[in-house]
Amino acid sequence: MKLIIDTDPGVDDALAIALAHAMPELELIALTAIFGNTFVEQSNRNARYLLDLLGAEGVLVAEGAKLPYGADTYEPSAWVHGKEGYGDIEDIPQVGANTPETAAELLVKLTADNPGEVTVCAIGPLTNIADALRLDPTFGQNLRELVIMGGAYECPGNITPHAEANIYHDAVAAEEVFASGMPIRMVGLDATMKTLLTSDDFAEMAESSPKAGGFVDHISQFYLQFYRSVGVTNGCPMHDSTAILACAYPDKFEWKDHGVAVVQTGEEIGDTVAADRPNTKVALDVDADWAVTFVKDAIATLD
Ligand code: BDR
Ligand code: CA
Repeated sequence: MKLIIDTDPGVDDALAIALAHAMPELELIALTAIFGNTFVEQSNRNARYLLDLLGAEGVLVAEGAKLPYGADTYEPSAWVHGKEGYGDIEDIPQVGANTPETAAELLVKLTADNPGEVTVCAIGPLTNIADALRLDPTFGQNLRELVIMGGAYECPGNITPHAEANIYHDAVAAEEVFASGMPIRMVGLDATMKTLLTSDDFAEMAESSPKAGGFVDHISQFYLQFYRSVGVTNGCPMHDSTAILACAYPDKFEWKDHGVAVVQTGEEIGDTVAADRPNTKVALDVDADWAVTFVKDAIATLD
């Protein structure tokens, strides 16, 4: 299955990209960078740095939106992912080159060239996806499926009591995407707060895969520390990797079909609520033991 990851790397994004690269079931064709965990220039640089570290050749990279719709500034979550997005690592070099297209242009082009064949996995705010829809309203008909890491059904939010971070960071874009009628799987906190990795899990990855696993282990120390500081002491959620797993193994999840809208104002802004509109498949649960083992086994196949 051809896969584009729209991403804001970001610690858990890096693991998700390494996972997708390690899975023979998935053909990773592009990364489109978005603001979120970092400024978009950093996400873009981090995406290319990781592809180089993984030896992933032929994966296109394009830079996307700098700001949420209607905003003129943006402050990344440096306390969660580190100042540069990769934990305590600074001076991340610029390697490789982008395609000439913007993220939205590349999303439209690759899906139009391969109608019905490309899954897009969006693991950051949804501005690039909404930009692609604004650029070409047929975008949603050309992709196979959009798998979103974002939102929450019964679970409380993680950036506010009501909202999950990716949806919260551009509630306008998220609303446009959920309203579009394109086929969507929403992998939100109900599933991703169950797929926890411990420091022992990361140490195993570093041992089985010194380069890729070692890098993930290193940057995840900062992320683990953030989760400890907010009272999650039994590991850190692999939010974005869980969405990658849903692209290839939806049968390992429990889904509910219902329309989703995004609250646009007030203290519940960014909440994902039920609406009378085309259905999204919302993940209520996942086989978390399977997911953790799968990810560790996949990373063990890398250098
Ligand atoms: C999401 O927000 C970011 O911090 C993570 O990378 C993930 O995509 C979790 O709410
Ligand atoms: Ca992310």
